[in-house]
Amino acid sequence: MTNLIDGRAIAEQIHAETTQRILALKSRGMQAGLAFVRVGEDPASRVYVGMKEKTSERLGIKSTTTVLPEATTQAELLALITKLNADPGVHGILVQAPLPAHIDQATIFAAVSPAKDVDGFHPVNVGKLMLGDTTGFAPCTPAGVHELLIRSGVKIAGAEVVVLGRGNIVGKPMTAILCQKAKHADATVTLVHSRTRDVAAHCRRADIIVAAMGVAHFVKADMVRPGAVVMDVGVNRIPDATAKNGSRLVGDVDFAAVQPLAGLITPNPGGIGPMTIAMLMRNTVKAAEVAVSY
Ligand code: GUN
Repeated sequence: MTNLIDGRAIAEQIHAETTQRILALKSRGMQAGLAFVRVGEDPASRVYVGMKEKTSERLGIKSTTTVLPEATTQAELLALITKLNADPGVHGILVQAPLPAHIDQATIFAAVSPAKDVDGFHPVNVGKLMLGDTTGFAPCTPAGVHELLIRSGVKIAGAEVVVLGRGNIVGKPMTAILCQKAKHADATVTLVHSRTRDVAAHCRRADIIVAAMGVAHFVKADMVRPGAVVMDVGVNRIPDATAKNGSRLVGDVDFAAVQPLAGLITPNPGGIGPMTIAMLMRNTVKAAEVAVSY
């Protein structure tokens, strides 16, 4: 019996559910629409947006992508967001991060209409997540981790969870999702970060570890209690002389060392990544469903 959590297979299950909802909207004359915005030519962002575009097309979501030059001003980007906010054919807006340094990311995320904020980064949606109000949008990566835990039958209620990393995109919202007094939550969550005194001691207590601090191979075998569930969110590029381009992507978990003792573990790639896209598609359909109900 494998202990791998197959993120690709579970993402496909969710895509099938989302496709049904897209078809139901179509039967009511509504075409779900998603607008991508990319600023500059960050290689990883190009790949991520490309994958999200392809999946939108496959599921029947109409996507449009605006690519702006690196030198775009904050005012120009805000003007585009204002236009997309007002476009009735656009139900979801995704401004791919990271943005160039001269643009304030928080200002941009706050400019997206909360009703179209399928990334879950607008302060209104961040607040709703914290309050346990499910009418908002949860950020796609932590929502994907949560869905993988649920669909893999992991008992979350009462579990000791250690989240590694306190970023706004994964660590903080992950903590908010799992600590709610709600079904598939009710965990005791410890948020561990760069100033935590004894990271390994926290990790060894955990029933579930979510690694999202962005340090290649940080989680070693001696940090994991045998039988623990290990979710690896990290995407880190490391040198690899045997690879075609001299580097390869690895997670935050030393997979080869940790897999033999983990109860369940996500491969990386093929674990969390596909789920992030599945949650984006699901959030977009949710936004379109709400729009059609008015
Ligand atoms: N950059 C890395 N992850 C994400 C994400 O989930 N959404 C956006 N917009 N940018 C990202």
